[in-house]
Amino acid sequence: MASLHTLLGVVLCSLMVSSSEILPQADFDLQAMAGKWYLTGICSNAQWFVSRKANMKTGTAIIKPTEDGGIELSFSSLTNNGTCRKMENLANKTEVPGKFTYRSRYWGYVSDLRMVDVKYDEYGLTYSFNTRGNETFVVNRLYGRSLDLSAELQEKFRQFCLQTSILPENIVLLPKSEECPLD
Ligand SMILES: *[C@@H]1O[C@H](CO)[C@@H](O)[C@H](O)[C@H]1NC(C)=O
Ligand SMILES: *[C@@H]1O[C@H](CO)[C@@H](O)[C@H](O)[C@H]1NC(C)=O
Ligand SMILES: *[C@@H]1O[C@H](CO)[C@@H](O)[C@H](O)[C@H]1NC(C)=O
Repeated sequence: MASLHTLLGVVLCSLMVSSSEILPQADFDLQAMAGKWYLTGICSNAQWFVSRKANMKTGTAIIKPTEDGGIELSFSSLTNNGTCRKMENLANKTEVPGKFTYRSRYWGYVSDLRMVDVKYDEYGLTYSFNTRGNETFVVNRLYGRSLDLSAELQEKFRQFCLQTSILPENIVLLPKSEECPLD
């Protein structure tokens, strides 16, 4: 939590934060982050997101630490027609704890993923800076151990999105969806 507090302090003095100023949570503990999370919020100004945001619903993410300190990320969500969409990516660790990098198998972008503010039994707020060709975009996500996160946490997420220059209309607290069966 310290890192977000520091960040908020910085934000009060300068209006927006640049990517390099967003640090992962201090003393990040990957093992404690492992397991199942619900994606409950997402924000981005990317065009693909803007065109899809109205149809997005909550999904399930599984974080599995690898032996070399990276993570296997799997994400699943129910589509509008009731089929399950599943995505898996393998993220490498970096020299900075709490910062990972992966190339999306589905969309081809390279993602610099940072675990910004985590309370391991409750929520995780992540920042990602993504690059595909000459295009770059930020995606922030709010995960919860349960689908119901407090209004205070939702507001914290909204503020974080605004500080990373996401437009208010591109901040989405996802409508609840049934879970997709994981195999
Ligand atoms: C259901 O929706 C997904 C994603 O929109 C699509 O890829 C899939 O073909 C659809 N399946 C059926 C049975 O309509
Ligand atoms: C992750 O690590 C593997 C093995 O070292 C490497 O081939 C791959 O390019 C790395 N991916 C990224 C996105 O850095
Ligand atoms: C980015 O790349 C695309 C396709 O390669 C190109 O059409 C476009 O002009 C480039 N934009 C900039 C700002 O360089």
